Amino acid sequence: MSARRIRFLDREPAQEAILNEVLNGLLSPRKRLPAKLFYDKRGSELFETICETPEYYPTRTEIGILRNFAAEIAEVVGRNCILIEPGSGNSQKVQLLLESLRPSAYMPLDISKDHLKVSVQALKAAYPWLNVHAMCVDYTGGLKRLELPRLPSESKKVVFFPGSTIGNFEPGDVLVFLHQITRLVEPDGGLLIGVDLRKDPALLHRAYNDAQGLTREFNLNVLRRINTELKSDFDPGNFYHYAFYNAGESRIEMHLISRGAQEIQLAGEVLKFAEGESIHTENSYKYTVKEFQRLARNAGFRAAGCWRDERDLFSVHYFDLPA
Ligand code: AVJ
Repeated sequence: MSARRIRFLDREPAQEAILNEVLNGLLSPRKRLPAKLFYDKRGSELFETICETPEYYPTRTEIGILRNFAAEIAEVVGRNCILIEPGSGNSQKVQLLLESLRPSAYMPLDISKDHLKVSVQALKAAYPWLNVHAMCVDYTGGLKRLELPRLPSESKKVVFFPGSTIGNFEPGDVLVFLHQITRLVEPDGGLLIGVDLRKDPALLHRAYNDAQGLTREFNLNVLRRINTELKSDFDPGNFYHYAFYNAGESRIEMHLISRGAQEIQLAGEVLKFAEGESIHTENSYKYTVKEFQRLARNAGFRAAGCWRDERDLFSVHYFDLPA
């Protein structure tokens, strides 16, 4: 029985693709690295610990919203959908919805094979009735090229994208990504998405500069990862974590700043850093409800529901397709 209910498709990205992205970013005049690089085994663990810090409000707030409104959300979304979750991680949040939503299948998509395997096992144990089709993929390359395995075609498709991961996308890329989702879920599906809200910059600042220094470790870990996986010689001690709210762009920016002039060897290239030079490692955009609904409408969606916490820290939206 379980063999039929669990499917595992392995399309883990090749090391070479990662190397190309890293080199490309670090050889550009304004050095940058893609935020998805944070999530190796250590980085994913660090992120999970960040989510438990008192300063990092998004996770617990979103969980509260999903828990409080699960029944209402299920009423708007409808039962028996095929629930597709890009970047499913430990599949923790979806569990708050499974009993209310009762999807006909759940498809977690994640870049980390280890994460997927563990979470699929946990799901299988906790929800014996659930069909799981797991896929190891890098969905940031675009959902369009994602060849999903053949799905039971009578169910509508719903993409679940919690955690304000959408905040990592540039607004123009949000439009492209949401549009790809409309194509994936048409004609009658939808998108259930968690979006962090614009708020007091002091609160935002604390969330990305936690007192325990976990966010700093999370940021610096990307250099350790590049060292081990791509055989470079970064000394993380020669960089410091810098995170601030850029109000003009409505985003938190994370950087790693070089403490002095230094040269790093990477794949036959020499990367030169000046003192104070930054590697831009992440943007985390914050939206108002109206702004995000406008973006989604521009991508072809219709706003069908929005749930928030009582402090207006975080939002969960449901978008469907106009008839
Ligand atoms: C997973 C992208 C939502 O932007 O808040 C947490 C990642 N970076 N602390 C975020 C993150 C620093 C997180 N997202």
